[in-house]
Amino acid sequence: MQKGLKGQRASRILLSSFFQVVAQCLELGAASASYINGSMEDMAFAQSVVKKAEELWGGLDMLILNHVSPAFLSYFNSDVAYMQKVLNINFLSYVTMTVASLPMLKNSGGSLVVVSSLAGKVAFPFTVYYSATKFALDGFFSSLRQEFAMTNTNVSITLCVLGLIDTETAMKAVSGVVQISAAPKEECALEIIKGGALRQREIYYEYFSTRIPLLIRDWAPNLLDYIIQRNYNIEKLKD
Ligand SMILES: *[C@@H]1O[C@H](CO)[C@@H](O)[C@H](O)[C@H]1NC(C)=O
Ligand SMILES: *[C@@H]1O[C@H](CO)[C@@H](O)[C@H](O)[C@H]1NC(C)=O
Repeated sequence: MQKGLKGQRASRILLSSFFQVVAQCLELGAASASYINGSMEDMAFAQSVVKKAEELWGGLDMLILNHVSPAFLSYFNSDVAYMQKVLNINFLSYVTMTVASLPMLKNSGGSLVVVSSLAGKVAFPFTVYYSATKFALDGFFSSLRQEFAMTNTNVSITLCVLGLIDTETAMKAVSGVVQISAAPKEECALEIIKGGALRQREIYYEYFSTRIPLLIRDWAPNLLDYIIQRNYNIEKLKD
């Protein structure tokens, strides 16, 4: 599900997300908003979303990539076909949409905003499929950022490293299993938009709960594993 948000300054923003919010965008004062229905498993669809934005607006200032396949906590169940599906939705569709929108973003000196997770920087248990795709986003977009810098390509790339956010789906997924507090989704959304608009390389939200694990990761990975494992109540895990 996609929405286009048209504001006053950054006028042509394409946002891909799991939730339908078009009506609310308009209610909150967006100049225009529209959506296309389809599955991000399908690369032809991912491409057509960008094409539609081009038809509607004739250009693009910001592409916010935010959709994911439904995630839940469970043991890795060796399902390679499912891994392929999650990879298509969480990673390859991001690449497809980026490739399709780059001519427009180069034209506008625009911004790519990639919503990732602390689980794309640090290993957490019971999120094998999800985590694999989030690590892949870091590799792809951080490498691409280097090339943009070396070729004077004026398209910013912002990777958003998010901790646990209190969205309905995330709360349902971790319910009873993880004992850490969730950060507010409204403030999170604002941080993502700000990070993109200010062309920051990465944003960390919430700051300390995402930065500190990263500091420990490189110096004491076993300690970090231990701290993380203590937060899980594995009896509550559904399989
Ligand atoms: C939206 O797209 C999905 C996947 O292609 C399809 O299964 C579903 O029926 C569509 N829903 C509507 C309302 O068009
Ligand atoms: C790059 O794009 C930004 C935003 O569109 C603009 O403010 C900046 O001047 C551009 N930089 C160059 C070197 O063209």
